[in-house]
Amino acid sequence: MLSIERTVIEIGLDKPLKVLHVTDSHVPLCDERDDEYRQSLARKKAPKLEGILARFREEVAYAEAHCDLMVHTGDLIDFASRANIEFARDVLKNEKILYIAGNHEYYVGRALEDMSYRLNSYIRMHLEDMGVNLFFTSRLLGGVNFVGIDDAYHQVEDWQTQRLQREVDRGYPVILFLHAPLFEQSLFERSVEYWKDGSAYLVGVDEDHLLSYPEFLAVDQRPCESTRRFVDYVNGEKRVRAVLAGHVHFNFESMLPGGVMQYVTGRGHEGVVREITLL
Ligand SMILES: [Fe+2]
Ligand SMILES: [Fe+2]
Repeated sequence: MLSIERTVIEIGLDKPLKVLHVTDSHVPLCDERDDEYRQSLARKKAPKLEGILARFREEVAYAEAHCDLMVHTGDLIDFASRANIEFARDVLKNEKILYIAGNHEYYVGRALEDMSYRLNSYIRMHLEDMGVNLFFTSRLLGGVNFVGIDDAYHQVEDWQTQRLQREVDRGYPVILFLHAPLFEQSLFERSVEYWKDGSAYLVGVDEDHLLSYPEFLAVDQRPCESTRRFVDYVNGEKRVRAVLAGHVHFNFESMLPGGVMQYVTGRGHEGVVREITLL
């Protein structure tokens, strides 16, 4: 059973568009082709596997029947195993699905999850031949430009902001989708309360708000200069009409400092989805 949150975004379209926002499916497939560590991750989630796959199939079927587009904002898989990559390849053949990676797409074992770790993770190599760019994507549909950016490690690089600017300059209203949400005060408070480790898992958190973080999480989540430039750009760009994100695993909506609404959607693996009607 799906738990559908319904959202209306008015941007002045001639014809309404329906988008299903799904995120954080965390599919845990694995077999003997992968190492013992990844197999142990899969064993822990094995009791939930059938339910996770059933929810995902239900979500895709719902999007096929009722929506013009399904946007998946990452953590489609729980870790980068061969079986999970095959699953992702199969899913992404569906042209109705627009997708950007989350942090779990790169997860191959315990290590500092920095950009080089992300680049080394082998899922990247196994999707590029399908034309899937995990770090930046865009699609124009019904007069709306859907633009996706991988910010899964709470950082954004300048080339991603520049490509977003180029998309914005095309003149269409932009729906921006990310894995990790952008900082906003009420979301920060809710997320700190939810995660219980002192950190909020948001992008663009300032030094005052990082004070509650354990140092190793502050190091990961402290925005670098290019990330700050990205956040400032989004907050100041009127053609960005809404931001969609996941990563924190609960539903939340709030207005970003620049006046744009950010819609965070919860656990896809439990059938939580957001049906967005664009008017
Ligand atoms: Fe997640
Ligand atoms: Fe995540």
